[in-house]
Amino acid sequence: MFKYYNSIIETIGNTPLVKLNKVTRNVKGTILAKLEYFNPGNSMKDRMAVRMIEDAERSGELKPGGTIIEGTSGNTGMGLALMAIAKGYKCIFTLADKQSREKIDILRAMGAEVIVCPTNVAAEDPKSYYSVAKKLNKEIPNSFYVNQYDNLSNTLAHYESTGPEIWEGTDGKITHFVAGVGTGGSMSGIGKFLKEKNQNITTIGIDSYGSVFKKYKETGIFDEKEIYPYLTEGIGEDILPKNVDFDVIDHFIKVTDKDAAIMARRLAREEGLFIGWSCGSAVHGALEYARNHMNDNDLMVILMPDHGTRYLNKIYNDNWMKDHGYLEEREFATARDILRRQGIHQQLVTIPVDMRIDKAILVMNQEGISQVPVTDGDHIVGTITDSRILKNLIENPEFKNERVKEIMDDPLPFVAMDSTVDVLSSLIDKKITAVLVRDENNNAHIITQHDILMAMTS
Ligand SMILES: Cc1ncc(COP(=O)(O)O)c(C=O)c1O
Repeated sequence: MFKYYNSIIETIGNTPLVKLNKVTRNVKGTILAKLEYFNPGNSMKDRMAVRMIEDAERSGELKPGGTIIEGTSGNTGMGLALMAIAKGYKCIFTLADKQSREKIDILRAMGAEVIVCPTNVAAEDPKSYYSVAKKLNKEIPNSFYVNQYDNLSNTLAHYESTGPEIWEGTDGKITHFVAGVGTGGSMSGIGKFLKEKNQNITTIGIDSYGSVFKKYKETGIFDEKEIYPYLTEGIGEDILPKNVDFDVIDHFIKVTDKDAAIMARRLAREEGLFIGWSCGSAVHGALEYARNHMNDNDLMVILMPDHGTRYLNKIYNDNWMKDHGYLEEREFATARDILRRQGIHQQLVTIPVDMRIDKAILVMNQEGISQVPVTDGDHIVGTITDSRILKNLIENPEFKNERVKEIMDDPLPFVAMDSTVDVLSSLIDKKITAVLVRDENNNAHIITQHDILMAMTS
């Protein structure tokens, strides 16, 4: 079938639902992730960018040749940049300096002008990214300030696209919906749609420590004492955006920056989902809720807003994680632990350099081993492997009468007894298939790739 899209904008939406299989161990029911990084701008914000721009064109607020201005945590900027390219507008974005470097670079790569503003100032401070965006809007003729926080086209986009996709994708069987809340557009739009379809669906908003939402929902109080700087990008606020519809959100759960980062990394490694930081918040909070409230027949959908590439220099960087105290040093087993498990008194099998090859094959067979250090007197001078013997015998069957020294490889490297398995495995490759280690009595032992694997998995 001849099928193509008229522009990149037409590829927005219809993102997949993927079941979580590993991080959900010991949780009842089924949990699906709605992967919004499949959108062309790699985030769910593409959806609302289209709606906000097209609504502004319809209302006459945005005219041909105009300039789009927005304060954005990066993802909205990407969606707006795609729209600007498709429709011939200019873009200026203001960002808080806590946002990832990657997001800033991406926006510039898409032709936008980016102004970086301080994070740790109040929203009404003239230096904040909200205030700078508003000021630019006043100064630049024919400019349109998108204001994703209070622009209700944001909620409408999710009410009209993401909500129906989730309802149809689950065949109306969804019982719980979870999403991080920033501007509120996604949770409010999707939550409203789902509750109109089935008012028994439970909606859980994910908030950050340092944000006002949870307390406001539970007490009706906007408590400034709740506000303090935090690192997770995209969720939580120090304002009450018009797009947050508190009536549509049943519960809020707060998640720490650290728990979110650790869960995001688990999702990458255990589920193959290379997702953004706030996805970690959403899944961490969702599992906390699910463990206490879900039953076998329940079906939860978690909205995953964006992609992991935007956080490569943060949560996906081990040094950054360590610097923030988020990465528990892993206790790796050492060569000593592996030998203890094998029985350290096991004698190392060796073969002298001038042994005939057919005899060496017999020894390897008897011992059930595929690589053996070769000795000359007391010294280890080489290694013989069954794959090398086989290769030579296939070329010339008479080779079996030759001496081991004719086909031995270099000796295996020696490592210290306290080398950890991550170091051992970094030494192992196609040529070096095992390492040697000497114990306190100067006896040599061999550690194979298989031994390392066993140590890492048991
Ligand atoms: C990465 C990320 N996660 C979550 C959110 C929150 O979504 P919403 O603004 O629809 O509440 C945003 C919004 O900025 C975001 O960029």
